[in-house]
Amino acid sequence: MSYNLLKGKRGIIFGALDENSIAWKTAKLAHAEGATFVLTNAPVAMRMGEINKLAEECGSEIIPADATSVEDLENLVSKSVEILGGKLDFVLHSIGMSVNVRKGKAYTDQNYAWTEKGWDVSAVSFHKTMQTLYKQDAMNEWGSIVALTYMAAQRTFPDYNDMADNKAYLESIARSFGYFFGKDKKVRVNTISQSPTPTTAGSGVKGFEGFLSYAEKMSPLGNATAQDCAEYTMTLFSDYTKKVTMQNLFHDGGFSNTGVSQEVIEKF
Ligand SMILES: NC(=O)c1ccc[n+]([C@@H]2O[C@H](COP(=O)([O-])OP(=O)(O)OC[C@H]3O[C@@H](n4cnc5c(N)ncnc54)[C@H](O)[C@@H]3O)[C@@H](O)[C@H]2O)c1
Repeated sequence: MSYNLLKGKRGIIFGALDENSIAWKTAKLAHAEGATFVLTNAPVAMRMGEINKLAEECGSEIIPADATSVEDLENLVSKSVEILGGKLDFVLHSIGMSVNVRKGKAYTDQNYAWTEKGWDVSAVSFHKTMQTLYKQDAMNEWGSIVALTYMAAQRTFPDYNDMADNKAYLESIARSFGYFFGKDKKVRVNTISQSPTPTTAGSGVKGFEGFLSYAEKMSPLGNATAQDCAEYTMTLFSDYTKKVTMQNLFHDGGFSNTGVSQEVIEKF
C-alpha cells in the first residue's frame, strides 16, 4: 500500500545494516511512498554487503560515512545534494552502539574510553550530522529530521547500560538543534522513542528476549515493530506534521504510560 506521502521528496537514510534494521524498513517504505534518497552506513558495516541489495531495490546510491567523522559527513551531505539533484527534505538518524554493552562491561565498571566512543557514535553523531546539514544549508524549508531513541532516557532499565545516558543526550540535542533549525531554516527535528525491537543493536542488550516479552505484555497495543516504526516515520517526513518539532515521540504501543497490565499482575 502506498499513499505517495513522500512523492518528490529527497533524503538521506543512515543505519540500514540488514533487513531487520529499522532503517532498512524505513528505506523500503520511503521508496514505496515516492521518495528518492541516499543510503549511508559506517564503512565497516558495509563489508557485509547487505546494503547493496537494499540500494538496488530502492534505486539508491550508497555513500559510506562514519557518523563520528565530520569530514565523512560533509562529503556525504554535499554528494547527496548533488546526486539527488537538490536540497533534502528528510534525514533519518538510525545509529546506536555502546562498546561497554558489546564487551559486557557493567554500568558500575565503565571503561571511559569506550563510554566516550559510544557517546560519540550514538549521540554526538546526531549533532555532527545536523551541524553539517545546517552549515551547508542542505535542507529545504519544512524538511524533517528524525533520530531513533529509547525510553531508558527517562526511566531506568539497568541492562541498557550507558546507552541510557547516550539516548538522554541525543534527545536533548534534538531539542537544542531543533530550536535553531526551526528558527533559521523552518526545519523540524524530533526523536522517536521506539519499543524494544529485534535487530542487531537491540539484541545486543543483555536479557533482550525477556525484556521484549515483558514490554509486549505491558503495552496495551503490543510492541511497535520495525515496520510500525517505518510507518510512523513516514508521517513525520510527510507534509502533515509540519509544526511538530523538538519532541520526543513515544512509539511503543502505550508502554510508557502503563503502570502495570493484567498479564503482568497474573504472573505474580
Ligand atoms: N532495537 C531496539 O530495541 C531499539 C529500540 C529503541 C531505539 N532503537 C534505536 O534505533 C536505531 C537503529 O537501531 P536498530 O535497532 O535498527 O539496529 P541496527 O543494528 O540494525 O542499526 C544500528 C546501525 O548503526 C550503525 N552504526 C554504528 N556505528 C556507526 C557509525 N560510527 N557511523 C554510522 N553508522 C553507525 C550500524 O552500522 C547499524 O546500521 C538506534 O538508534 C537504536 O538505538 C532501537
